[in-house]
Amino acid sequence: MMVRTIFAGLVAATFSMMAMAQAPIVIKFSHVVAADTPKGKASEFFAKRAGELTKGKAKVEVYPNSALYKDKEEMEALQLGAVQMLAPSLAKFGPLGVKEFEAFDFPYIFDDTAELHRVTQGAIGAAMLAKLEPKGIKGLAFWDNGFKSFSANTPIKTPADLKGKKLRIQSSKVLEEEIRSVGGLPQVMAFSEVYQALQTGVVDGTENPISNLYTQKMHEVQKHLTLTNHGYLGYAVIVNKKFWESLPADVRGQLELAMKEATVYANKIAQEENDMALEGVKKSGKTTVYVPTKEEKLAFKKAMAPVHIKMADRVGKDLLQSIYKETGFDPNHL
Ligand code: LMR
Repeated sequence: MMVRTIFAGLVAATFSMMAMAQAPIVIKFSHVVAADTPKGKASEFFAKRAGELTKGKAKVEVYPNSALYKDKEEMEALQLGAVQMLAPSLAKFGPLGVKEFEAFDFPYIFDDTAELHRVTQGAIGAAMLAKLEPKGIKGLAFWDNGFKSFSANTPIKTPADLKGKKLRIQSSKVLEEEIRSVGGLPQVMAFSEVYQALQTGVVDGTENPISNLYTQKMHEVQKHLTLTNHGYLGYAVIVNKKFWESLPADVRGQLELAMKEATVYANKIAQEENDMALEGVKKSGKTTVYVPTKEEKLAFKKAMAPVHIKMADRVGKDLLQSIYKETGFDPNHL
């Protein structure tokens, strides 16, 4: 009897050890936008490739639409290790104390994604990601979304059309200055709250890449959208550093490969997703889409140029100059 009990115990222990050995490493990947956005699709792509490349040793669970955490909370959760992976917009790193990331918020600093990629995919981007390490964060990649445009319930053709308007922005001192430069009133608010704020008139308008505007249905509560493309919104994919370093080396290598593939995918689909979203907005007939003339665009650029001078010290003059060198932007000669 005794022998049988010991044997049964040993069998149970062996099975539970085997189960433990096979239990996948779970990586929770939280984000705040819809699943059918560039970030939503790229995170699903990463989850699929991570499962395939690690042969099931790692399981990436993606939580879109602020299902787990809102903007500010998700960064805290990552640092605490409650969630392992995020892709916050680059504006979200300033409030963390890594002000260099606010360089991405400077208006019109990039004309197109080719200029942007010289920064994000090059030495400047790598140096910026390294700045996250003292915060317990490992930066893995930059993923694109796209360029932001202004929306409101009244037409926007000139900077003066934004005067006195309450405009929702992300929590960024540079974005605050950007809104002030056109006479608007910056309103910082979590992404998950923007639709309702627009619907109820708590704010008058906002700035978004079109994929974010469309997938949150903001175009249904905004009558006018002007394709100002005045600033960039993209992401840094990040992990809890301690968690990442504790992974078995083979699994970490496979996840790095999955991330490389997901980054190529993300940056390939971002423009297409934004183009499709714009078509969706136009088809809905709920928002008038206005394409500013060259002169009108220049008027926005000129109105916002002082932001570069005013905020240069905040992100570091040398960093700004090194970005200008890659992009050819010069706030003094527009
Ligand atoms: C926002 O708050 O507007 C963005 O950070 C949302 C996102 O992640 O694209």
